[in-house]
Amino acid sequence: MNKFKEDSTHNLIRYKMLMNTSQDAIHIVDKLGNLLEWNEAFKKHLGYTDEELMHLNIVDWDKKWTRPDKIELMHSISDDGISFEAIHTTKQGIEKSVDIRLNKFYENNELFFYSTARDITDQKKLQKELKKAVIEGEENEKRSISIELHEKIDQVLTGAKIFLSLYEKKGDRKLFNETLVLLDESINKIRDLSHVVALPNLKDTGLESSVLLFLKQIDENNMINFRLRVNFKEENYPLDFKTNIYRIIQEAYRNVLTHSKAKHVDIVVEESNSMLKLHIIDDGIGFNPAEKIDTLGFTKIKTRVDVFNGVCIIDSMPGKGCSILIEFPMYNSKS
Ligand SMILES: Nc1ncnc2c1ncn2[C@@H]1O[C@H](COP(=O)(O)OP(=O)(O)OP(=O)(O)O)[C@@H](O)[C@H]1O
Ligand SMILES: [Mg+2]
Repeated sequence: MNKFKEDSTHNLIRYKMLMNTSQDAIHIVDKLGNLLEWNEAFKKHLGYTDEELMHLNIVDWDKKWTRPDKIELMHSISDDGISFEAIHTTKQGIEKSVDIRLNKFYENNELFFYSTARDITDQKKLQKELKKAVIEGEENEKRSISIELHEKIDQVLTGAKIFLSLYEKKGDRKLFNETLVLLDESINKIRDLSHVVALPNLKDTGLESSVLLFLKQIDENNMINFRLRVNFKEENYPLDFKTNIYRIIQEAYRNVLTHSKAKHVDIVVEESNSMLKLHIIDDGIGFNPAEKIDTLGFTKIKTRVDVFNGVCIIDSMPGKGCSILIEFPMYNSKS
């Protein structure tokens, strides 16, 4: 649509304005990939001067387009254009990840390509770091489970075996009872470990009961007085979303148990103002969030929040407890 009267001079001015105010790196190449026109953002993106850009071909900043075979590919794109990710190399040799939108058009029967590039290098780097942190976290978890299995359960069971063979030789009832104690200990340890790795049965039990069970099992000695309020339309939310909430609560609650010395914890999951809110508040010793921003447990929480487009505010101060407030877009029955 164009409500302006057709006037080529004004069209040109408007077109230049659109080009140069865009944050995206816009450029036009001919059918051989020779650069014909570009905006300020493109110039800045690649770091060349206007004079240098005049002599560039697409292969100079995007090595993938080796002349002329790949250029042929460009010709075959549909009239709607295509989107893809690419790597651009700047004048200084720096590689940048970009999201490309490529369209073709004809002028006086000649083929041209109009392309916009959006720099996603930082985004990619962050995604990579987050993924790495999650993988490292999983590896650490596996390592600690294997240590638990090897050093604790293995040892206790070996002890039980020794007692049992002594009992066989000596017939001393005390040895038999000791064996039972050790076997009980192993059973408890295996149960503890399986809580760490097991997936909750959210499908049948629902989030509230699953979290409740976890809270009771992890704090068998009732060190902490917790309150759990779950008030949202569970049936509207997919299982992986609910599993995500469950894992965040697990991670945060383990922190409360290990670090906080808290007496009370409130955990709230509720829908309000078109958001699904998860709030975990303890009255423990608190900490300085600025110093702990990149630690593994919090990185895992933030990754889980990111994956479902949520936001997370960690609010704490030494001596003032800790509040983790997470908000996700609300799902409703239509979405
Ligand atoms: N609720 C809390 N109260 C007091 N300090 C906390 C609390 N939660 C976290 N912390 C502090 O923040 C640090 C970082 O927590 P994070 O979960 O990222 O790592 P971690 O618990 O030390 O290790 P991991 O979770 O990988 O086992 C903790 O070591 C602790 O000092
Ligand atoms: Mg932790």
